[in-house]
Amino acid sequence: MTQHCAQPRLYVALDFPDRNKAEALVDQLDPTECGLKVGKELFTRAGPEYVRSLVDRGFPVFLDLKFHDIPHTVAQACRAACDLGVSLVNVHASGGRAMLVAAREAIPLGDTSPALIAVTILTSMAEADLIEVGVDRPLAGQVNALARLAKDAGLDGVVCSAWEAADMRTIFTQTAPVIVTPGIRLAGSALDDQSRVMTPEEAIAAGATSIVVGRPICRAPNPAAVAHAIAECIRDR
Ligand code: C5P
Repeated sequence: MTQHCAQPRLYVALDFPDRNKAEALVDQLDPTECGLKVGKELFTRAGPEYVRSLVDRGFPVFLDLKFHDIPHTVAQACRAACDLGVSLVNVHASGGRAMLVAAREAIPLGDTSPALIAVTILTSMAEADLIEVGVDRPLAGQVNALARLAKDAGLDGVVCSAWEAADMRTIFTQTAPVIVTPGIRLAGSALDDQSRVMTPEEAIAAGATSIVVGRPICRAPNPAAVAHAIAECIRDR
């Protein structure tokens, strides 16, 4: 028995303001080729019933709500996520050991359970931002310390930049660690607001176990073809 359900290699980020726009894309995607990431915007607009409908259509769903609250509240939120049948849940490692342990205890271990991963430091934060919130050690050290805390609390892995994936692999040494990397761009495609990017193949070679891709798929003239091409190029890596 593994600790969590199998993860798709590719999660497509449904960064849309409403259900209809998300549906236009989802209708073109194949649940055997990709999972779907639902973040705070779509969740707040479309709600848990929409998440459940995606699960019912056979898609693995990454519920990207980055829980960060007192341990009891986070545990209850994790239980609610399990009830929706999602495949991947995340919490902020900076919520501390008791919160991480409460999240871990709330999600049963087993091959039908969601994987539970941590956010260390948001990739939007630079060292100057950390200093303003009272963290004065170098950013990489803080990322590694939070990842170790998450590992100690029994979490399955982290969401991180592909540039951090190799370091994260040295911390999450268990079988089936879950190292999820956004900031993926196809060779030659627009960076948008991402700065440190890798291609899908590079990210997997660097240690990612799943990648998250949003705009390169959602804004393509033929999203289904791009999703299919990405899924194919990382399938057996
Ligand atoms: O459009 P793009 O491929 O850049 O989308 C990446 C997705 O991953 C977005 O939903 C973004 O919020 C999310 N994400 C990220 N960087 C992180 C964590 C999540 O880009 N560190």
